Amino acid sequence: MTISHLGKYWLIVLIACLFMTLFISYEAHKFAGSNMSELPDNPLYRNSETPVNQRVADLMSYMTLEEKIGQMALVEKNSLKEVGDIQTYGLGGALSGFGGRPDDNTPSGWKQMVETFVLESRSSRLGIPILYGVDAIHGHSNVPGSTIFPHFIGLGASGDATLVKKVAQATGDELLATGVRWSYSPTYDMPEDIRWGRVYETFSDDPQLVSSLGSAYIRGLQENQTKSSTTISVLATPKHYIGVGGMLWNSSSNENFRIDQGSTPVDEKKLREHYLPPFQKAVEVGAASVMVGLNSWGDTKIASSTYLVQTVLKEELGFKGFVVSDWYGVYEIPGDNYTAAITAINAGVDMVMLPFEYKEFVRDIKQAVSKGDISEARIDDAVQRILTAKFQLGLFETSITPDISEVGSSAHRVLARDAVAKSLVLLKNNNGLLPIKEDVRTIQVAGSAADNIGRQAGAWTVEWQGIDGNWLPGATSILAGIRESAGEGSVIQFDADANFSLGSPKADLGIAVVGESPYAEGLGDNPNPFLSEEDIVVINRLKETSLKVVVVLVTGRPLIITDDIKNWDAAVVAWLPGSEGAGVADVLFGKKPFTGKLPLPWPSTLRQLPIVGGITNDRSAPLFPRYFGLQY
Ligand code: BGC
Repeated sequence: MTISHLGKYWLIVLIACLFMTLFISYEAHKFAGSNMSELPDNPLYRNSETPVNQRVADLMSYMTLEEKIGQMALVEKNSLKEVGDIQTYGLGGALSGFGGRPDDNTPSGWKQMVETFVLESRSSRLGIPILYGVDAIHGHSNVPGSTIFPHFIGLGASGDATLVKKVAQATGDELLATGVRWSYSPTYDMPEDIRWGRVYETFSDDPQLVSSLGSAYIRGLQENQTKSSTTISVLATPKHYIGVGGMLWNSSSNENFRIDQGSTPVDEKKLREHYLPPFQKAVEVGAASVMVGLNSWGDTKIASSTYLVQTVLKEELGFKGFVVSDWYGVYEIPGDNYTAAITAINAGVDMVMLPFEYKEFVRDIKQAVSKGDISEARIDDAVQRILTAKFQLGLFETSITPDISEVGSSAHRVLARDAVAKSLVLLKNNNGLLPIKEDVRTIQVAGSAADNIGRQAGAWTVEWQGIDGNWLPGATSILAGIRESAGEGSVIQFDADANFSLGSPKADLGIAVVGESPYAEGLGDNPNPFLSEEDIVVINRLKETSLKVVVVLVTGRPLIITDDIKNWDAAVVAWLPGSEGAGVADVLFGKKPFTGKLPLPWPSTLRQLPIVGGITNDRSAPLFPRYFGLQY
């Protein structure tokens, strides 16, 4: 071999090396998923005058693949492993699942907590703010001292979209007061079986009512221009897409539950005609995120269905916001965690409520992109949707100064009290017993929920499963409301167990405030939705010492009372009224009229379940049909 041959050889090796280097750097570049160009001092995305789509494109042009994947992770705040991880992993969202509270569990403690997370996220390379979310399903109800509005079932009974919008605005004010910009509400589920533990979280089983109240709620939350000048003030999340409420009893995929997280057995026609229209309306009014449910359609977990999420929601309905999965929902898709995560993301889930293991998630998704199991285009689509919402919320600017005096303000409590009054449904009123007349002088009040603010607030209040007890700062019990509304000359006696003296003359009126103790989600699946024995005993005892008896039901669902109600002179459903128990008394004493209507049919027997589209399973008449409600 001559020198010139050797020279040629080295030249070939050199050229090959050059190609290899170019190839490797191209691959690395591709793996990173974006160009790695230096960040200029004043990048376009930081300029609030620039249109949102251009800001998003500009920001994404600087993002590495890891930074993009981080944006797709939603982590429960107690699962954050180390201070600094929000920054290191560029996490897109954090949440308080119920119980995810700051050590200082006060409005200012909340504000401080959220601020700390946001500051940490802003100090990351690109300064992308984290989105903090909570379940503000009846006010900012994680926070002691907030205004607790009636649960959605009560708002459904009011049928009043204007009221619902105001409630959402007030809830948004309280969220903004603590720096929280994202709520996992409103609920679009439509219950067909009262045994389900989430009936009270729903407006109604009627898609039209759900559409109108849900739209009002989304607008109230997102378009709260008095407090924020951004396109979206608080991000609403209609949930849970799709078919939730129609699951079959005993179909739950969770061994501890009976119906929650179960299977919705409907055909596509019913899915489209019954369950889809409210979401269509939500898209039309600008909902910027949607949560997919933990249920299945037949055997398919919703979060794994490309057809339902990508094709129907995003392509057919034209949903431009981002899809978030529910708590651990992605990992309930069959297969190992890697397979489950890629299935969900490929199906169209944009942000994954992990909510625990973010490090594994980032590792898995990186690997999935490098192996081609998830395309870069899918990642880019997800991130573009998430960042669009963040810009629309003005998170990159300090557009809002939280004012904690909004939390539990007197104006919000007045509104909540009015909402309670509008949510009451009068089921029975023999001889016009209600409203309580002026000549009613002695009133005996009894029952497990009369002086129990925790019961009237229900679950998702400070604790996930609620508090069965008389604790909630600033709240008013139903008993206190009765005392306030009764005239000067009236005598109010109270004993929760109705142990009133038998010897003396009977009281003019007995008011029994009875019902359910708090429960949430599948833990509230109840095969026997009846009044408790204790409550029935109390009502019967009260009848012995009072001339007439009104029963006020504090309940998250219709209860089977077919035989019991025959013995009562009047019956009122108060649902789960929240912190302003005085709203119940306002109506009992006639300061305000009864206007509420049942937002779902009230069955007379368990054999009637499920009740689909108002038709009972055995085709017999329910005790009261949907929209029943006496007025005076
Ligand atoms: C519920 C969701 C809720 C989420 C976060 C889940 O268990 O199904 O409705 O938004 O937890 O708290």
